[in-house]
Amino acid sequence: MTGRRGALIILEGVDRAGKTTQSTKLVQALQDRGHPAEMMKFPDRTTKIGQMISSYLVKATNLEDHTVHLLFSANRWELVPLMKEKLEKGISLVVDRYAFSGVAFTSAKPGFTLEWCKSPDVGLPKPDLVLFLQLSPAEAAQRETFGNERYERADFQKTVLQRFNQLMTDPTLNWQVIDAARTIEELHKDILRHSEVAIEQAATQPLKELWK
Ligand code: TMP
Repeated sequence: MTGRRGALIILEGVDRAGKTTQSTKLVQALQDRGHPAEMMKFPDRTTKIGQMISSYLVKATNLEDHTVHLLFSANRWELVPLMKEKLEKGISLVVDRYAFSGVAFTSAKPGFTLEWCKSPDVGLPKPDLVLFLQLSPAEAAQRETFGNERYERADFQKTVLQRFNQLMTDPTLNWQVIDAARTIEELHKDILRHSEVAIEQAATQPLKELWK
């Protein structure tokens, strides 16, 4: 690789924290400032695997819990070649959810350990920055009501938040907790500041592997 590589920036957080709004705004702002950037989201429901996941999420089909966990992971792996190609070209990727959602959601189900949940995602491209949009269950409850998809239940989301908190104690990752109870513009400013630092630092460093 001769030029500068792009940064892998992930937005995580419980449902209704504003990840999608902020990812879109971040990509626009980075492009406006001359940083090539593109948005991705997981699950990517456009692939064959993504369609199986989508059908499960809208409750059109049922899948065994381990099976769906592995499908979410496979959906990330199938996009790794494309992600690497873009990062190597100097394009920063702003990704709405990643392996951390995978682990937090499955391990919120009974009988799943964090270790088991992490294993299929070991070795994925390691993020340069993971922004966690923090919103307390009380604050989340004041926002519009949940939709009808699987997992959109307050009690389940509370357990998911606990699992995210466990994942955030990992010092090998660059977690930044963002208080999502503020206005869209306030959050955006914070997110942009962290992202520009990460882009600068990633440019001259090789891409590493997650949880390895
Ligand atoms: P979305 O609403 O951002 O499209 O995410 C779909 C749901 O899938 C959301 O409730 C989080 C959940 N999820 C997992 O259970 N495992 C995963 O690996 C990912 C990326 C999302």
